[in-house]
Amino acid sequence: MTDWQQHEQQAMAAIAAAPTTDALEEVRVSYLGRKSEVALALREVRDRETGQLLNGVRGRLDGALTARERVLAEEELDRRLREEIVDVTLPGTEQPLGHLHPITQVRRAVEDAFLGLGYEVRDDREVETVAYNFDKLAFLPTHSARSPRDTFFFDDDHVLRTETSPSQIHIMEEKEPPIYMVSIGRVYRRDAITATRYPIFHQFEGLAVDRGLTLADLQGTLLHVMRALYGPDRRVRFRTHYFPFTEPSIEPDVSCGICGGSGCRTCKFSGWIEMGGAGMVDPRVFENVGLDPEEWSGFAFGCGLERTTQLRHDIPDIRALWEGDLRVLRQF
Ligand code: DAH
Repeated sequence: MTDWQQHEQQAMAAIAAAPTTDALEEVRVSYLGRKSEVALALREVRDRETGQLLNGVRGRLDGALTARERVLAEEELDRRLREEIVDVTLPGTEQPLGHLHPITQVRRAVEDAFLGLGYEVRDDREVETVAYNFDKLAFLPTHSARSPRDTFFFDDDHVLRTETSPSQIHIMEEKEPPIYMVSIGRVYRRDAITATRYPIFHQFEGLAVDRGLTLADLQGTLLHVMRALYGPDRRVRFRTHYFPFTEPSIEPDVSCGICGGSGCRTCKFSGWIEMGGAGMVDPRVFENVGLDPEEWSGFAFGCGLERTTQLRHDIPDIRALWEGDLRVLRQF
């Protein structure tokens, strides 16, 4: 075997053994590159025979390289298609989207119900003076809510408001009747945390002041709101009660939506659920804000948002609304 035959065999073996296109490129450079033995020898050629011989070697190696290159490129493409597979039909990575807290949802439902009646929505301060939280609302000096056992006092004159009722005073001092407003926000009481009580909670407070308003207007308004919040087949009834700032005072009940009024655990087998307090604005309250009780009449009502939310979703424990446990909140 001549040297060139041996050289060609060696090159063919290297071409066949190259595992990748990169490795094959190195083989090409070393056997056919500018500084390869074949290239250098071709530059020295003097006779036709040697020229033909070397060109033959070069042509065969070139053909073998091209063939091998095609095979390797195909293999590499196959491997990439296998390994870098992207299934565009798979569902994407989901971005978790939050939602409004159930209290906020109910707050907005309350706002919607009252905006539909032409009421204005407001929210007043949570740190309130004794004058607005108690005095102007005609609480007697001996009323138990004035005790630091029941109410958070900062000093003798400042409390965390215990109800949203001070909004009644604020709006009547700010503007002339007619007034139709609902005030929604947080209130505070010194209660131990239990399944039914929490020291912070929310109330909505309504006030209407106009000429010639009666209990019938209050009843119609509450019926509308309860149906907006709980469903169109609800009924409302009034029980007499006492509040310092209304006369007469009543407690509205809404018919139980779980049993439809026939009696169940949620309504304690009465068919009715207590909704809060209400009444006709007491003449003393009108006098406290400089309105003439002979000219103006009004009704007011207050309800807890937690209670409303619990009834809407049948949530037995108020703590679920304050603990921020996503396993609970995700359900609403
Ligand atoms: N403020 C009362 C409470 O927190 C609820 C209430 C009763 C509000 C009668 C009113 C009302 O506006 O007229 O228990």
